[in-house]
Formats: sequence, structure tokens, C-alpha cells
Amino acid sequence: SEIPIREKNIVLIGFMGVGKTTVGQLVAKKLYRDFIDIDKEIEKIYGMPITEIFKKVGEAEFRRVEKEFIVNICNHQTLKIISLGGGAYLQEEVRKACLSKCIVYFLDLSWESWKERLPLIIDSRPVLQNKTLHEIEDLFFKRRRAYSLHNSKISTNNMDAETIANNIVESIKFAWD
Ligand code: S3P
Repeated sequence: SEIPIREKNIVLIGFMGVGKTTVGQLVAKKLYRDFIDIDKEIEKIYGMPITEIFKKVGEAEFRRVEKEFIVNICNHQTLKIISLGGGAYLQEEVRKACLSKCIVYFLDLSWESWKERLPLIIDSRPVLQNKTLHEIEDLFFKRRRAYSLHNSKISTNNMDAETIANNIVESIKFAWD
């Protein structure tokens, strides 16, 4: 049975450090809805930060838990605002669950703008460690292809989180009408 559009979860996707968590929290507040940050939930499950999870159980196990968690939420919950980790959407099962049950917003940022944030986020992002800038750039554009499967794209260049959140709310209200 089809979920009414106003009840669908809203899922935010995009590369590491584009602001999915900050923006998701603001959107949830503006729409009076609950916010779920997938990374935070996985950190709760393991009782350790993502960097530790990668070290102790490995990326493959992290991806398995991440996928199960997201697919489960998509299939059993509605009315939520959800931020995915930047790598989650690379998994086909995650994409399918999100696109069939939720409204997917891609937070887009140019490589030039993103690059400036790298020093601020690298320490908490194991995927970025031990890579050259060129390798990170490759990853950025490879992943953009997966992110291109979305319902709506929100450009975030030179915008603060408040403005981005307002743009999403405006877009979702338009979709609801
Ligand atoms: C990852 C992104 C992170 C986190 C983990 C792996 C990735 O989330 O899930 O470090 O592979 O892109 P953010 O997108 O919130 O940084």
C-alpha cells in the first residue's frame, strides 16, 4: 500500500560534511517532526564513535548494520526526518528502500566549496583518512553518481544551514500541495 505523501519520511543524502545533520535537525524542528541521524544511532548501538567502530569491527560490518538500520526505518516508520551517512546511499538496498518509501533530498555542494571544509571534518571521517586530495576528489565525483538518484536536489553553495532548511521546507510544502 502506498504511503500518503505527507506522511513519508524525508531523507537527506549527500557527501560527508555537507551539513546533513545540522540541516536535518532544523527541518525536523520547522515541521514539528522527529529527527533521526543514522550515524548517531549506530554510535549508540556500539557505544563508540564512528572512527572507533571502523577500527574495532571494520567498515564491512559497519555497512551491514547501517543498511539494516536504514531499510528497517524506511519499512516501518513514517513522518521522520532522516540524515544518512555519506556512504550509506552507495548500497543499492538502501537506495531502493529510500526511493520507494521516502522523499529523498540530495544536498549538493561544489567540489571547490567542499574542499575548504576538509580540514574541519577529516579527523572524524575514517573514509577520508590516508587518502590524497586527488583520491578524495575522485570519491566525491564517483559518489555524486549514486546521489543523482534522488527526488529533489538542494544546492547548498554559499548558504547557511537555516537557509538550506528553509529551502527544503518550502520545497516539501510545494510537493505536499
Ligand atoms: C561515511 C560518512 C559518515 C559516516 C562514516 C562513513 C562515508 O557520515 O557514516 O564516517 O562513507 O561517506 P557523514 O556523511 O555524516 O559524514
